[in-house]
Amino acid sequence: MSDIYKRCLQSAEYLKNCFDAKDAIGIILGSGLGELANEIEDAVTVNYADIPNFPKTTVPGHAGQLICGTLNGVKVLCMKGRFHFYEGHDMKTVAMPVRVMKLLGVKAIIVTNAAGGVNRTFKPGTLMIINDFINFMGDNPLYGPNADEFGPRFPDMTKAIDAGFVQIAEDCAKELDIDIRKGVYMSFRGPNFETPAEIRFAETIGADAVGMSTVPELLTARHCSLPAVGISCITNMAAGITGEELTHEEVQETADRVKDQFKGLVKTMITRM
Ligand code: HPA
Repeated sequence: MSDIYKRCLQSAEYLKNCFDAKDAIGIILGSGLGELANEIEDAVTVNYADIPNFPKTTVPGHAGQLICGTLNGVKVLCMKGRFHFYEGHDMKTVAMPVRVMKLLGVKAIIVTNAAGGVNRTFKPGTLMIINDFINFMGDNPLYGPNADEFGPRFPDMTKAIDAGFVQIAEDCAKELDIDIRKGVYMSFRGPNFETPAEIRFAETIGADAVGMSTVPELLTARHCSLPAVGISCITNMAAGITGEELTHEEVQETADRVKDQFKGLVKTMITRM
């Protein structure tokens, strides 16, 4: 048995005594988007600190709780707060909750984040469906001996994002009158925001948005055949595009401004996934 499989099993065994997440939709909430978790009914909340093998989060605005319950009539398992590579966790640790979700019987996941807009037609507050991604983190959660229990050595990434879920997200946005966009998310290691030169590079190679998360989770989900889609909240235009300096406060302010649209979108999407 691979070491990572053993560690994930231990976490999953503990959590199975707390709630039943079979066939739930997994939701990973990004910076400033955690409020959705407050709407979960019949919620069972488990602190990451209490879960065997789970690390602790260190970022302001990330609470660190796993919440299982019902959202808009749909069973969900929600991560309020995630692990980032820039916190010093290794990539396997960053993506480990996705594997635990898989072991708990979660049937699909939505990964969300705050991101910088590279596509010049975006505005702060734009929501973007991630329909492909670029791993620019210089590391990979699947690196090292393959965990055969989860998936193959060379997982295909042609369909890393579930095309059906992208369509569902588009349909839901249209019905909710949300002007949503689709695009490529490119992940940097962080923790600094990118330089203007890096953003010109990102633009050149086809990125629409940049951030410091999500790609580890999406790679890991694909590896273990957990269908996935991502939603980015464009909280700011990326470095150098407007000339303004970037701050974490701006990220949180914008996420807060569009949280109702974001929540409405996710709540509608989960009823169809
Ligand atoms: N860059 C990287 N990560 C981010 C940004 C950004 O501009 N905005 C929010 N998260």
